[in-house]
Formats: sequence, C-alpha cells, structure tokens
Amino acid sequence: MRVLVVGSGGREHALCMAIAGSPLLSKLWCAPGNPGIAAVAEIVPIEVMDIPGILRFATDNALDLVVPGPEAPLVAGLADALAAAGIACCGPSAAAARLEGSKSFTKELCDAVGIPTAKWERFDDAAEAHDFVRRRGVPIVVKADGLAAGKGVVVAATLAEALAAIDGLLPTGPVVIEECLTGPEVSLFALCDGVHALPMGAARDHKRVGDGDTGPNTGGMGAYSPPPAWTPALQEEAMARIVRPALAEMARRGTPFRGILFAGLMLTDDGPKLIEFNVRFGDPECQALMLRLKSDLLAALVAACDGELGHFDLRWHDRPSIAVVMAARGYPAAPEPGSVILGTDRAAAIEGATVFHAGTRQDANGTLRAAGGRVLTICGVGTDLSAAQKAAYAAVDRVNWPEGFCRRDIGKDGALPQTPPG
Ligand code: AMP
Ligand code: GLY
Repeated sequence: MRVLVVGSGGREHALCMAIAGSPLLSKLWCAPGNPGIAAVAEIVPIEVMDIPGILRFATDNALDLVVPGPEAPLVAGLADALAAAGIACCGPSAAAARLEGSKSFTKELCDAVGIPTAKWERFDDAAEAHDFVRRRGVPIVVKADGLAAGKGVVVAATLAEALAAIDGLLPTGPVVIEECLTGPEVSLFALCDGVHALPMGAARDHKRVGDGDTGPNTGGMGAYSPPPAWTPALQEEAMARIVRPALAEMARRGTPFRGILFAGLMLTDDGPKLIEFNVRFGDPECQALMLRLKSDLLAALVAACDGELGHFDLRWHDRPSIAVVMAARGYPAAPEPGSVILGTDRAAAIEGATVFHAGTRQDANGTLRAAGGRVLTICGVGTDLSAAQKAAYAAVDRVNWPEGFCRRDIGKDGALPQTPPG
C-alpha cells in the first residue's frame, strides 16, 4: 500500500514508525514531517492545512490511504476532499470532526443521548457570562467553544480568574462554562469505522507545564500507559456509556465518524464522565500507545476505512510505556527557536528508549535545532512503570540541550528516578 501520514509532530513520528513496520506497506510518505520522520518516511514539503496540495499529491501518486495526525485539516474538510477523489482517509469528515471543532456541538450531543459529562452553558455575551459565574461560584471551568490547540481552557479557582478567562476568550468567539469535575483523568482512544469502535488503549496525560501539575495547560508534557487503576471493566463502561453512544448518534444523524475518537475522561465518584472528544490521537499519548501495540496498525486503519472493524482485534504488550516531552524554554507562551540539540542518537541507544521528533529542524550540515514548542518526545518501555521511567529519563539525560526542559514527574504514580535537572 502507498500511504501518506499528514503532520509533523511526535505523534506523527510514532504513527510513521508503526506503519513503516507493516507488511502491507509498499511506500510511506509524510507531509510535512520532521527530521526524525525522514528516517522512516519520504518527506513531502506540503503543510497540513494545504488541502489542495495534499489532494494533488494523493492523486498524482495513486495513494491508497491518507492518515491525518492533527485535527485542524479534518475540521477544514481534508477527509471530504479525499473522499470526493476516491482516496481512503482514516479520519472523519468535517461534519464528524465537529466532535472536536465545537465544544457546544459535543455537549448538545451528550445531552441528547445521555452521555455523562459536566453540566454546561454557552455564552456570547460577557455580562451574561459574568453573571452566570457569579451565581454559580467557583471552581468553574471556562472554555473557548472552538478549536484552541488544547489551550483554550481555564479551570478557575477564583471568581477573578473566571471573569478574566471570559474576558480573554470571548473576543475570539463564544465560551462554554462548565461545572468543575474532580477525579483522575484518562485519555481513551477508539478506532472507529462509522459503526464499530475498537479500543486503541488508554493513557494518562500530564497537561500542565510544571512538575506536580503546576503552571499553564499545554498540548501535553508527558503520558504513560496504561493509566493506574484502569481495568477492563472501566474501559468497557466508558466504551458502553460514552464512545458507542456517540458513534451511534453520529451515524443516526447521517455524519458517521471514521478515524480515531479520543475521549478525554474524568473518573469521578459517579463513574467516567466525558471532558471532551478529540477526533485524532493524542500527542504524546500516541507515542506511548504505539510502543505497546503488537498488532499491525496499518491493517487496523484499513479495516476502519473499509467498515470492517466489527471482527477486528488488536494485541497489546503488557509492558507499560512512558512518553516525556522535551520542550523549548519559554513553552507554552513563547518557546525560543533555533537552539542546538545534541545527543539524540546517544539517547536512543539507551535500552528500552525511543526518541521521537516533533518541532525539530536540521541545518544543511546536519545540526539539529529546536523549531517549535514541543521538540522531542523521549519514550521508555520496561517490565514495570518504574523501569519504563528509568529508560526514558536516562535517555533524556543524554540529550544535550540547555535551552530545553521537561517535567521530571511523568508517571508520578510509580517510583520516580532521582536525576538532576538538565
Ligand atoms: P480540554 O481541552 O477540554 O481537555 O481541557 C483541558 C483540561 O482542563 C482537561 O484535561 C482537564 O484537566 C481540565 N478540564 C476541562 N474541563 C473540565 C471540567 N469540566 N472539570 C474539571 N476540569 C476540567
Ligand atoms: N495530549 C492531549 C492532546 O493531544 O490533545
């Protein structure tokens, strides 16, 4: 098969690595990719939002499958454009991508079919929104209704914070204000073919920038899989109460969902509740999950496109995995670009470690430099979580990049390796 992965992050590097191992593959491309991905796929210099460019490349090269990593091109209609040209795409139509593109769309869908989620209201007017939070009190959650790259959410502990969040977000569009749920969070992934949903594993994400879950929210600073206390029974409850009802309702509305459905869950005292849906793999959850997948990812993606997931099964390694994001100093507000990164090869040589590239670029002479916020994902696997952490952090310590940083407490529920910051 001739396959194109769309994206340039650590998630896409992990997807490319998994697809590259498939016996079904004849050739793999990635647009626009990154210097790490160049080792497993041919790089195509087309940006993720250049839908006409991707379409042209797909038809000119007689591609069999396009695998989009990020949500933005899906929300903008990439899957629809490819479908119109008869090219399979393992991602949702723009109509189905509204599950991520609009928080109020998803909240309404949840309410319509009884999916457990936080109580909510949507506001276009600052005075009404202020009045609502004054009446409801804190803590309360204020979100941008539209796409915000995982950064449009404020969990306000004080009234002043809630009011400031409303004033900050409203100029860019409507806000959704929600009841604040408490409990551990789990990212659950399901591969969907429009009708059937196949669990693709679960992970714990660490969204805050600082150790001990402090500082602003980010796209994700680390993840590990499986999450603590995540049982087959809990997964089945989440599939039965959240994922399958959403899939059935999308099909009933004539906008069936195909691709990866990412359910951000909170495990509350009343059971799992939906925080949000995303229409793609998580980053860095994908990196952690791909290191646990035994089965052929490409075969599963093809079955999703063919509507044949009903009898499909995936095999997973029991061994846990962990993904540690290395970000450029200043992330998430203003990451410094251009600093030189050394030692990634030595890091990858640690037993059990894998180095995925995200925001990197390479000079003509081969020098690797930071070119984004999240720059590398350093992963580890091991017989237990502690061994996986040791592998990942030993690899982190071999990366010589003074302008980079990472959290030191990813997988904090296990034993932490004692390593100096670096
Ligand atoms: P989201 O972008 O919707 O995933 O939100 C980012 C983070 O904000 C989530 O991972 C949660 O930690 C937090 N969050 C979002 N909604 C709620 C809520 N209703 N109650 C408590 N925390 C929330
Ligand atoms: N790590 C969470 C996300 O990709 O949205």
